[in-house]
Amino acid sequence: MIKTNTVYQIEKFYEGMKKYWHPVCSFKKLKYKKIIPIQLLGEQIVILFLQGETAALLDVCKHYQAQLSLGKIDKFKGNDCIRCPYHGWAYDRFGKCIDIPQINKIISKNIKVPSYQTCEKYGIVWVCLDHNSKSEIPDLPEYDDGNYRKINFFEKETTKTNVLRMIMGTLDNTHFPWVHGGILGSKGKINQSKNNCNFENNYLKVIYSIEQPNNLVTFDQSDQLIDKSKSVNIKYTNYVTINTIRLVKSGPSGNYSIWLSSCPNTFNESTNFWIFSRNYDKSPKKDKDYLDLAKTVRLQDKVVIESQTPKLLIPFNSKIGIPIMSSDKPIIEYQKWIEKLGII
Ligand code: FES
Ligand SMILES: [Fe+2]
Repeated sequence: MIKTNTVYQIEKFYEGMKKYWHPVCSFKKLKYKKIIPIQLLGEQIVILFLQGETAALLDVCKHYQAQLSLGKIDKFKGNDCIRCPYHGWAYDRFGKCIDIPQINKIISKNIKVPSYQTCEKYGIVWVCLDHNSKSEIPDLPEYDDGNYRKINFFEKETTKTNVLRMIMGTLDNTHFPWVHGGILGSKGKINQSKNNCNFENNYLKVIYSIEQPNNLVTFDQSDQLIDKSKSVNIKYTNYVTINTIRLVKSGPSGNYSIWLSSCPNTFNESTNFWIFSRNYDKSPKKDKDYLDLAKTVRLQDKVVIESQTPKLLIPFNSKIGIPIMSSDKPIIEYQKWIEKLGII
């Protein structure tokens, strides 16, 4: 039984994931706190809000390697900077050292800490560690669509698993009756739906239809015309990237979309950023009901996903498991794709 990952597997994962954008923290929280230390692909990074812009620097001072995120935001000659807590060196948002209080001369431009690409989208701060990368942030068309009511759920605690397992677990549909019985499936009705998988514009697209119990996330509960005693046929259209999945559920009342982007803090720990959108039952008063249901489902998944070993997915042909070629097709396709991209 393989319980742990090898150093080779971990290094390969970190290297392979570097060229993608990863969600790291809430933009609203950053604007308020100005300094947020995070871990991304095993690196200590400090996320900053300087001169009205986001910035990401290696969280290690050039002088004697103290953690910059323990310092304070300051101003030097009119510029916002982060000042190291140990001896006061100051860095701008590009990582360049702009002040060394102990000397009074021009500072060499070579004195700088590594900085990384960063941006804001969907209320989330994103970081890409590779300067030459041309990768894009995954789509969420519902975000700018006024017909949808949106709610965020940015998790405060990390999940003790690898990002790939997290995405795979959200794509998997045969666990619904077992893990989410009464909410997303029922044991009396085992899903043997046909999965349609193909690759479209850098996404793995997976379509299937299944019967689900009556509840908020299958149709509008205030709709008098729908027979609530019956289960509902829901069509799922899923768009998957390496670290993000968008599940669009189409039912009789409209669409309910679940978007998850997961940050690979390390090879065995991740942080989840969820955005749920619905184009029916849009009253803000109902948000809490939707969020509570989502959190219940999330906790049910967490227990089993954190129990999987090894934490980091290994190649499909390692024969560690016994997949079922028909019903497990979406997650098999995902695993093979990740392998082809050189991440595992
Ligand atoms: S360690 Fe940062 S200023 Fe000395
Ligand atoms: Fe689940």
